[in-house]
Amino acid sequence: MASFNAPAGTPHAPAAIGGPPALSLTESLKQLDDIHREKLAVCDQLEAIADSLPSDVNRQRCLYAAKAIAQVVRAAHRFEETTIFPAIASHFPDVPHLESTLRRLQFEHCEDEGFADELSDALHRLAAADPRVHPETIGYMLRGFFTTVRRHIAFEREHLIGAVNGSAQMNP
Ligand SMILES: [Fe+2]
Repeated sequence: MASFNAPAGTPHAPAAIGGPPALSLTESLKQLDDIHREKLAVCDQLEAIADSLPSDVNRQRCLYAAKAIAQVVRAAHRFEETTIFPAIASHFPDVPHLESTLRRLQFEHCEDEGFADELSDALHRLAAADPRVHPETIGYMLRGFFTTVRRHIAFEREHLIGAVNGSAQMNP
């Protein structure tokens, strides 16, 4: 599912934000927009599953979503941290609080990946009609996850893409 050119299987460790950028700023923002769209599509799938609980669950959709969140979330985060964040940091070395903002986003990535693993496991069990899975519990997990991811994306769009575009307009 992960369509962008992200490094596969990289263990999660804080990346050095100040490294040399591999993409131009324009390319980086386009890639970030693509990543956001892909993650939002996964969120829509998860919301559809939450809305189908408890009696109208599509098991195939659960399996697809379980695989998608495990792949898309990690690949997106690695790509953001190793390629996009360094490009933004490199182009705007004097923007106040930019580095702390990027570190905050990295921390949120780490939290989201742990949550994504738990949710992926729960979706596999839901697809298998495991009687130990409680619809209320997985509904709570689903809504908590996609709400958090959508909030993270909104923050990145406002504070990274918006700030960069605003700066570019001020300094063409
Ligand atoms: Fe992110």
